[in-house]
Amino acid sequence: MGSLTIHSPTSSRRQFLKTTAAGATLATAAITGLYRPASAQKKAIPLLFPTLPYPENALEPYLSAKTLHIHHDRHHRKYMEETIARVKGTDYENATLEKIIKETYGGITMIETLHLMAVLAWNHDFYWKSMKPKGGGELPPKLKTMILEAFGSVDAFKKEFKEAAMTFGSGWAWLVLDKGKAAVTYTKYHESPLLLNQTPLLTTDTWEHAYYLDYQDRKGDYADAFLNNLANWSFAEKNLSAAAPAAPSTTAPAPVKKSEKKK
Ligand SMILES: [Fe+2]
Repeated sequence: MGSLTIHSPTSSRRQFLKTTAAGATLATAAITGLYRPASAQKKAIPLLFPTLPYPENALEPYLSAKTLHIHHDRHHRKYMEETIARVKGTDYENATLEKIIKETYGGITMIETLHLMAVLAWNHDFYWKSMKPKGGGELPPKLKTMILEAFGSVDAFKKEFKEAAMTFGSGWAWLVLDKGKAAVTYTKYHESPLLLNQTPLLTTDTWEHAYYLDYQDRKGDYADAFLNNLANWSFAEKNLSAAAPAAPSTTAPAPVKKSEKKK
């Protein structure tokens, strides 16, 4: 079984960071690096609210146009606009979401709000790309090989991914590359595998707003539809190929994180 990582609430992380030297260093760096005088500020804001990679009705009957409209145009838009508003006039004004996510991790309250908005904006963009019309089906060769090596069979992988997607509460089920191996990870709320030195390959949003209009309490049916009819395996294959030269285990150490438990 691949790793299934559950993270504790953000408030615990904040408390943890407050009580450790590492946390103090991180918070201090974040404070000193964040604001600059107006004269030094850059003019352009490169962060933009991304359009959907397909029409709102393209994933029907598995996800309705109404679900995609509310999810993308209200939820995702809010996370992106909140992120853009918070980086305006700061060193992060021209930064990527990935940089913001990694550097604001575990900061003081104001930075933490930016962090969670940036994670949610990034996760949603990745989620839209993780699906496509007429998705599912056969896995591309490289991805299939990784899946078979890690899980033994595609069905075993799907079973574990579905289990992660059905975790109670709001979160994200991920197929990731972890230390050179395919794994299933679950992150709660606004947490990101980017902070665990894992390379995301594919994700599904398991917050209620992602599926409730179409599936109500049938979260398992939503997970099945994602895996069998929506998953963009080509996107996962592309992410896998891009990550292949540099295994996650060889990258910089992960930022300080709070306690976690294996499931
Ligand atoms: Fe969402």
